[in-house]
Amino acid sequence: MDHFDYRDGVLHAEDVSLAAIAEAVGTPAYVYSRATLARHARVFREGLAALPSVHLAYAVKANPNLAVLKVLAAEGFGADVVSVGEMERALAAGMPASGIVFSGVGKTGAEMARALAAGIGQFNLESEEEGVELAAIAAALGKTAQAALRVNPDVDAGTHGKISTGKAENKFGVPYDRADGIYARLAALSGSGPGLAMRGLAVHIGSQLASLAPLEAAFTKMGELMRAIRAQGLAVTHMDLGGGIGVPYKAGEIFPSPAEYGAMVARVTADWGATLMFEPGRVIAGNSGVLLTRVIRVKPGVSCPFVIVDAAMNDLARPALYDAWHDFLAVAPTGEAMTANIVGPICESSDTFAMGRPIDAVAPGDLAVFRTAGAYGATMASTYNSRALVPEVMVDGNRWAVVAERIDPATILAAERVPEWLD
Ligand code: LLP
Repeated sequence: MDHFDYRDGVLHAEDVSLAAIAEAVGTPAYVYSRATLARHARVFREGLAALPSVHLAYAVKANPNLAVLKVLAAEGFGADVVSVGEMERALAAGMPASGIVFSGVGKTGAEMARALAAGIGQFNLESEEEGVELAAIAAALGKTAQAALRVNPDVDAGTHGKISTGKAENKFGVPYDRADGIYARLAALSGSGPGLAMRGLAVHIGSQLASLAPLEAAFTKMGELMRAIRAQGLAVTHMDLGGGIGVPYKAGEIFPSPAEYGAMVARVTADWGATLMFEPGRVIAGNSGVLLTRVIRVKPGVSCPFVIVDAAMNDLARPALYDAWHDFLAVAPTGEAMTANIVGPICESSDTFAMGRPIDAVAPGDLAVFRTAGAYGATMASTYNSRALVPEVMVDGNRWAVVAERIDPATILAAERVPEWLD
């Protein structure tokens, strides 16, 4: 459930008309609902209420806006980060360092040192080499790095190939069959002084999962691995089960609920005796935001017209990258319908949001939204074609604020330099 509803024929975010926001901020613009974000955070937490010891680390990559992180910090979420840039955002939002998990295959030595200095709670190691490097950096700094080993369970998540992470051929984690040996060698690096402290295992098999079955298969394998490692006399106190729960992008689609997910996790992990960590991203942020856009022009096409909107693939890359579907709704529908190709102004054919889609009839100047744009929307925006970096707005009841300004092409141009030898 979210808080984007029609009132008197006009789409609102909570109590604010999207037409009023478009008037004040211009388009395109992302609009987030604070109440929806907070609700999703609570529903996720409630879904896990039966579990004895839980740590929630919001996947910052899904939507790293500072105001969004503030809302989630207030809901008691820590953060899953994949760069020092994301870590600094989580800290700036007031998330305690101890609640931050650092994931990612390519952490640099400088990033590890900065994260150790900040005192983050856990590093999720993606290779033995990374663990050896982290141990040395931590020892040199007189710090102890709490760490988990990310394992690739070779389970097919059944999602889009570009967002699948748990198959043997993917770059993530260490191979399942070698994980116990790697864990033992990394655990042996921890002496009595500072350095590496192996405490757990981590898994994340992909994003936008439509079914719980692959997650259950992966978690079951992780439980067996945990037991095998403990049988060697090594401690495994933390099990990070990642993110990945999918969300409906089309009205009426049904996805596993956080309660169903929680029930599955409770069943699989009943005898684990470990703190369970979660890294949800999309399920928290996805349906908490829309991309507000205005129709520039309607142009005849061969089989149906092109609706050219002022948002483009640089603002919302998911359709171009993953053939993703985002529902398109008029802000003030007339009740008429049309079938259209929805495209942006960018000069390549991948700048297409939908082909031959039945939609609300729209005309030049009309406002519309792409739904389910709160996750992997603004965060993946670029300035391709020298377009502005898209602004972000948050609504809270009957008030709203710009939470990321539009960065116009002139500002971006001002950061560029022409060397004297070109003058
Ligand atoms: N943990 C790790 C280690 C991850 O790599 C990810 C997402 C998450 C957690 C959060 O997954 P979620 O709960 O959001 O599914 N740009 C793509 C999605 C990429 C996801 C990358 N990793 C998209 O727009 O669909």
